[in-house]
Amino acid sequence: MDVTFNLAAALDAVLQTAAGAAGLEATAFAPDVRPADPRHGDFQANGVLGYAKARKLNPRATAEQLVAALPADLREGFDVTIAGPGFINFALKPATLLAWLQAHDDAAHLKAGASAYYGGQRYVVDYSSPNTAKQLHVGHIRSMVIGEAICRLLEFCGADVIRDNHIGDWGTQFGKLIWGYKNLRDEAALDRDPLEELERLYKAADAATKSDPTVLEAARAELVKLQQGDAENLALWQKINAISSGAFARIYERLGIKFDHELGESFYNDKLPRIYTEMQETGLATESQGALVVFPPEHPRFKTQPFIVRKSDGASNYATTDLATMLYRTEHFQADAIIVLTDTRQSDHFEQLWLTTQKWYAQKGYRLPRFEHVSFGSILGDDGKAIKTRSGDPIRLQSLLDEAEERAFGLVTEKSPDLPEADRREIANAVGLGAVRYADLAQNRSSDYVFNWEKILSFDGNTAPYLLYAVTRVHSIFRKLGLDPCAVAATAGASAPESEHELALARKLAGLPAVLATTTAQLRPHFLCTYLYELAGTFSSFYAAEKVLVEEAPVRALRLLLCARTLLFLETGLNLLGLRMLTRM
Ligand code: ARG
Repeated sequence: MDVTFNLAAALDAVLQTAAGAAGLEATAFAPDVRPADPRHGDFQANGVLGYAKARKLNPRATAEQLVAALPADLREGFDVTIAGPGFINFALKPATLLAWLQAHDDAAHLKAGASAYYGGQRYVVDYSSPNTAKQLHVGHIRSMVIGEAICRLLEFCGADVIRDNHIGDWGTQFGKLIWGYKNLRDEAALDRDPLEELERLYKAADAATKSDPTVLEAARAELVKLQQGDAENLALWQKINAISSGAFARIYERLGIKFDHELGESFYNDKLPRIYTEMQETGLATESQGALVVFPPEHPRFKTQPFIVRKSDGASNYATTDLATMLYRTEHFQADAIIVLTDTRQSDHFEQLWLTTQKWYAQKGYRLPRFEHVSFGSILGDDGKAIKTRSGDPIRLQSLLDEAEERAFGLVTEKSPDLPEADRREIANAVGLGAVRYADLAQNRSSDYVFNWEKILSFDGNTAPYLLYAVTRVHSIFRKLGLDPCAVAATAGASAPESEHELALARKLAGLPAVLATTTAQLRPHFLCTYLYELAGTFSSFYAAEKVLVEEAPVRALRLLLCARTLLFLETGLNLLGLRMLTRM
C-alpha cells in the first residue's frame, strides 16, 4: 500500500472496496475511518457497527468478514485488530511509518498531499472588515488573526482562497463625520494623526447631535447629500476612507496580511435595488410598518425579530448590503464557499442572512455555496471584563503590538544579553507579535479569553515563545552537527523506528494529516496549536531519552530523520498560523 499523505482516506478507500468482496452491501456501507485513541492504534474504522445494527447482524462477525477480505498489502502496512463489539483498529507498522516520513520531506510534498482536501474549491473569506474612521483596537485582532490562519490553512489544503476585506465604509456615521469635519476639525491634529482626529470628530459630532437637535438635522442633511451624490460630500467621504485605509494598511503589513480585494459596503450601493426586487418577487419579504422584512416563520427565535432588508425610511442597512454581497460572491467570484468572521454578537444576523439566502437562491435557481459564520468570543482583561486601558478606553491595536515587541525585547535581552541589538530586535519582533497572535489562536475561538502578558510571553506551556524556541532548538541540533536539516543524505538508509520514544514521535508526526483535516473542516485553528504543542513535547521527550549521533548508521539516520521532520512540521504548522520563524534565539 502506498504511503499517501492522508492515510485515513486511503484506508477508507481500501475498506470500501473490500466491503464488496466481503459480501457487504458496498453502496450502503461507509467505513468511517478516523484517528484512533493512540492506545489502540493509529486509525479505527467504526462503520461496521451502524451497518450491522441496521441489518440485525452480529457486528463482530461482520467486522471479521471484512477484515478477512482486506488485501495483503494493507496487512503488510498495518497491524489490524478487531476490538469491542466490532471496531476495526489499524496500527501503522514501523516500516510504514518510516516510509511515510521519508515521503513527506518538504513543505511542497505536504501541501501536495493536503491539496486533496479542498482542491478545486473556491473560498471567499471575509475577515478583518473594520469600519472606517475608527482606530483598530485590540478587539479587532481576532478577526484578522483567525481569518488569516483560516486562509492559509485552506490554501495549504488546496483551496483557491479570495481574501476580501469588507470595510464598513458606508452608513449613517458619515452624516456625523462630514458634519464634524466641516465644523469642528483641527487641521494640525489632522496632519499629525489623521485617524485619531477623525475618531475625535466623530465622537464630538455624535455628542453634539445628542445635545442639539439642529446639529442632528444638519448631520442628517449631510448624509442625504452624500447619498444623493453631492460632489463635496463625496470627496470628503473618499478622503475619510483613504485616511482609514492608510492606517489599516500599516497594521496589516505588520501582521503579514494581504487582501485580494477591499470591497467595502459602498461597493454594493448600486447592487441594492436588485435585492429589493428579488426579495419581493420571490415573496420572501413583506412590508411591515413601512419596512421591508423577511420573517422565517419556521424559526421560533426570529418570529418577533424579522430580518429587516429595507428600513421604514427607505434606506438600506447591513442586511441589504450583506444580501448583495452574498450574491456578488456567488455570481462574480463563483464561490463554492463563503466564510465571514465576526464576533459572536453578530450570530443572529448571519443566521438570518443564511436562512434568507437559502430560500431566495432556491426560488431563483441560483447555485447555493456553502456558508460559514466563523464567530469568536471577546478578549478579556484580568478582571474578566472586556479588556480596556486604565482610563477605560479600548486598547489600540498599534500600541498593543508595540508593547508586545517591547516586552519580548526585554525578555530576549535578559536571556541573551550578548546578542547584537539588531538580532535581539529581530527575535523580539517574531516572539512578541507571535505571542499575541498565538494566544488568540490557541484557544477555542468560540470562548472568551483572558489576555495576560506573563502567560502569553512565557517560555513554558502552549505559547508562541515555547514553540518558536522548540524550532530553534532543532535548528541548533543540526547546526552543532554541521548538517543541513533539509539534506537527505544524512537520513538515507534509516532503519524503522523501534524504541518507545522513536515510535511515539514517528506516530505523532504521522498524525498531522488528520489534524489538518479537522482544523480546516471545523475552521478552528486551536486544533493545530494543540497538535504542535504536543509534537514539541513528544520531541523533547525523544531528545532527552535518545542520543542522536549513535554509532549504528541506520539508527543515526532514523533519529536525524525524526529531528528533520519535527522541524519541518513545526515550521509548516506555525507558518500556517501566521508566525514568523527564527533559526536561533
Ligand atoms: N464591519 C463589520 C463590523 O465591524 C464587520 C463586517 C463583516 N462582514 C460582513 N459581510 N458583514 O462589525
